[in-house]
Amino acid sequence: MSDRYLEFANSPLGKSIATSLGLPAAPRLRRAKSGYAAQPLAERAVLLGGSGKGELAAQLLGALDGAGAGVQIVPTHPGLAPIKHAAAAAGINLKSEPGAEDRAAAAFALVYDATGLSGPASLRELYDFYQSRVGRIPGSGRVLVLSRAPAEYKDAAGRAASQALRGFVRSLAKEVGKKGITVNLLEVGRAADELLAGPVRFFLSEHAAFITGQVLPLAGPFAAARPLQEFTSPLGGKVAVVTGAARGIGAAIAATLAREGAQVVGIDRPQEEGALGQTLAAFNGLGLPLDITAADAPARIAQELGKLGGADIVVHNAGITRDKMLKNMPSHFWDQVLDVNFGAILRINDKLLADGLKDGARLVCISSIGGIGGNAGQTNYGATKAGVIGYVEALAPELARRGGAINAVAPGFIETQMTAAMPAVPREVGRRLSSLGQGGLPIDIAEAVTFFAGPLAAAANGCTLRVCGQNYFGA
Ligand SMILES: NC(=O)c1ccc[n+]([C@@H]2O[C@H](COP(=O)([O-])OP(=O)(O)OC[C@H]3O[C@@H](n4cnc5c(N)ncnc54)[C@H](O)[C@@H]3O)[C@@H](O)[C@H]2O)c1
Repeated sequence: MSDRYLEFANSPLGKSIATSLGLPAAPRLRRAKSGYAAQPLAERAVLLGGSGKGELAAQLLGALDGAGAGVQIVPTHPGLAPIKHAAAAAGINLKSEPGAEDRAAAAFALVYDATGLSGPASLRELYDFYQSRVGRIPGSGRVLVLSRAPAEYKDAAGRAASQALRGFVRSLAKEVGKKGITVNLLEVGRAADELLAGPVRFFLSEHAAFITGQVLPLAGPFAAARPLQEFTSPLGGKVAVVTGAARGIGAAIAATLAREGAQVVGIDRPQEEGALGQTLAAFNGLGLPLDITAADAPARIAQELGKLGGADIVVHNAGITRDKMLKNMPSHFWDQVLDVNFGAILRINDKLLADGLKDGARLVCISSIGGIGGNAGQTNYGATKAGVIGYVEALAPELARRGGAINAVAPGFIETQMTAAMPAVPREVGRRLSSLGQGGLPIDIAEAVTFFAGPLAAAANGCTLRVCGQNYFGA
């Protein structure tokens, strides 16, 4: 499961050979080495800009200052008034951006409040902010744009300008990915303004290293606003259940939830009991060897969770592939994939919604970019992974009524046993055809799941977030 080209392209000799031959870049991404920090952006500078009537200046300043970032501004920037006003009100010290020659003081992230854009002409402000600065963002830096969703605009010009941001972000992500820089857009519903600190922290942090070119709507419906308070070990005292936890992505999810304080119950097929025990032993997790498609699986999971007082977090990760072109696909391939990846999730949730979930529970389902873009030979798998996206949208209001949320993570190419089993050529293409030029690691999916499982994502419900390095499949 190692990516030899990534090693080669980052060696001194390999780098110069790759550059001279025009081979694809595969930057070494800076991933978080430990759990959530109280001030993940300490000693980092963030350049903040916004359009003249930007509505999120105060929330953004609060989020950046709270995360420990030094906030820089462009003194000549026309959209500064709301930022300066909010900084004065909050007693936050703004610094002018350093000159181009002072690379050490350069901002690692460029954040732009685009909520005030009103039409095509106003998009010029976005160009002016980013155009001359984007080349100076250091490797593994961040671009984050915030807007209102297009549907929130009553006039056609405002709606069109908001939609234009999606194309801007997706295109810029493809330009700067070779430096490991990520570019994302948060579409903030007004009810989510006070909950912005969590997503801003996450997307600017090293926990989000493999997420780029994405648009995350923060529009609810979601539970009553709970501004961010728990910064470290936010899942302390929470009970989390993870299916398919013996290996691969599921094992990383279990370990990452435990890293943030959760008591994890890991489920996997009985024949994986040994591997499951080994994985869970590292963080005192509890194992439940069980085939999730078994008729008694929902009841047994509910019973196990009952002993712990119910679940705060449920992660539906177990999944299988049985690939064949449809014309050659035997019906048992169809049935197996539909049952493990889709049917079992609904049956288990139906049971837990009646008996086994605590109020405020967070549910996370693992989808796939194969459910968004589709893949030849994966009609069964693609159907299940698209179905999961529809399912989280449909169930979001129900979870909101209970004070919780349900979201999906759609991985791209991730280095696991599942992808190691692919034929060599599609495997290499799957890895390299992305803005970041490499496959992700199980920890990248685990970080996104942990985001949705905890207080940082209080404003997300019914969303599907692709974690794929902006893989060109289904982009
Ligand atoms: N690896 C990727 O590139 C990738 C991409 C997109 C989506 N995904 C999704 O991520 C999830 C995890 O994938 P992975 O790559 O870690 O796979 P994996 O095959 O390495 O691990 C899957 C785990 O699920 C378990 N499992 C399978 N069927 C089960 C059942 N009936 N009951 C209980 N456990 C069962 C397996 O035993 C295994 O431990 C899957 O839903 C997969 O579809 C993976």
